[in-house]
Amino acid sequence: MTAALIDGKAFAESLRGRVGELAAGFQAKAGRKAGLAVVLVGEDPASQVYVRNKGKQTVACGMASFEHKLPAETAEADLLALVERLNADPAVDGILVQLPLPPHVDEQKVIATINPDKDVDGFHVVNAGRLAVGQAGFVPCTPLGCVMLLRDRLGDLAGLEAVVIGRSNIVGKPMAQLLLAQSCTVTIAHSRTRDLPGVVRRADIVVAAAGRAEMVKADWIKPGATVIDVGINRVPAAEAGKTKLVGDVDFAGVSEVAGAITPVPGGVGPMTIAVLLRNTLVAAHRNAGLELAADAI
Ligand code: GUN
Repeated sequence: MTAALIDGKAFAESLRGRVGELAAGFQAKAGRKAGLAVVLVGEDPASQVYVRNKGKQTVACGMASFEHKLPAETAEADLLALVERLNADPAVDGILVQLPLPPHVDEQKVIATINPDKDVDGFHVVNAGRLAVGQAGFVPCTPLGCVMLLRDRLGDLAGLEAVVIGRSNIVGKPMAQLLLAQSCTVTIAHSRTRDLPGVVRRADIVVAAAGRAEMVKADWIKPGATVIDVGINRVPAAEAGKTKLVGDVDFAGVSEVAGAITPVPGGVGPMTIAVLLRNTLVAAHRNAGLELAADAI
């Protein structure tokens, strides 16, 4: 392996440390803790794990965690009513409704009901619009975490060629907007892109967010490029009956060509919750009318 490892786990820990210090400062000034409400509908096992981890890390950072666990058969109207209550609750700075929602619930309707100034996931169209036009708002946690890792590794990103593989609303599209805001030359590639290996070979920065296990191969990568792997795919392991987590990047091959790469697990994954806590702290300051220096976090 020749590539440097980008240690998202360590970066996320230090980010959570800074959030914790600033959360204590917020509490001293506002007379209350910053608060994050998380809504989980149903019993998806992966979602249960995320929600448990979010709750633990929120409390560990000195913020208040409000968990709302609803049965899978909850009516859409009841979920919307809960979101409205959280919108009106002054103890709640950030609201996160865990996705995916059961099929009888319209996800877009639920997201549209969240007050954009409490939308710490950055999924509301108002926040997508703010990101697109360069106004302050909330940016989805995973892509923001990717940019933090890139800035930490590369410094100024201006002029770099960036290729984002994947065009989801949660990762690909906001990722492209963030890289554009960093003055990269940005290409969004997707399942219909012609000559994907040729497109990726131009990139100084590759962000793989396609949801396909180990699709990005060593001969797609320009030597020295920085590779960010957003994929989390569970595949059969060598040992019969076992599974393992792999990214969207063929790590063994690509790490012989790239200049730097995020591992899976331990790369982008741990950043998501750390950025969520960061967004919640920013929301708390805005909601309380308190200053938070732009470069504080
Ligand atoms: N499901 C998987 N990741 C996320 C996330 O970042 N936010 C929400 N709301 N749901 C998710």
